[in-house]
Formats: sequence, C-alpha cells, structure tokens
Amino acid sequence: MANFVKVGKVSDIKDKQMKSFQISGKTILISRFGGKFYATDEKCTHVGGPLSNGKLSDNIITCPWHGSKFDIKTGSVVEGPAKTPLKTFEVKVEGEDLLVNLQ
Ligand code: FES
Repeated sequence: MANFVKVGKVSDIKDKQMKSFQISGKTILISRFGGKFYATDEKCTHVGGPLSNGKLSDNIITCPWHGSKFDIKTGSVVEGPAKTPLKTFEVKVEGEDLLVNLQ
C-alpha cells in the first residue's frame, strides 16, 4: 500500500544533482535527471558509503568510497565491488512538492 510522504520541493534539486533527505528515520537520496526524480537509499550497499557525497553522471551514481556504480532508475549495480542493488522508492510530484512512497 502506498505511503507517500512529502520530502521537499522540486526547486530543492537542480537537474543532474542529488540531495539527501531524512524522513521517518530513513535517509533517502533523491536524484534529478532528465527532468525526472528518482529516489534510492542513501547508503551504498557495499559497506555503507554516503552516496550523497558521490558523483552523479547521467543516471549513474558513483560511491565516493570504493567506486561502485548504481543506476538511479532501477537501483541495479552497474559496477562493483557492491553486489546488492540499492532500494528504490517511487517519487511523485504534486505542484511544487516532492513526495516519496515509503511503503
Ligand atoms: S562503500 Fe560504496 S563502494 Fe564501498
């Protein structure tokens, strides 16, 4: 069942940028690419590197610790050492508000 929670504003994140938000005890990373928003866990699935300090290039985020690459659209691992995909969350835009489905 959907549980959309408001996390911020569309204007908080420019295209090709990302930002982390604290919601209900979780840290979620929202990335903006091609005019769309994608939400994933903020911690790398390797050993917990802070992806918000990583690099976003198109739809690929690179972990700052050991260089794992993930696709922000699907959470899948593009390049290791990480093996486990990132958890993804559905994002909805309502007017100026960004909402994330925490389920
Ligand atoms: S913690 Fe992200 S690659 Fe190691």
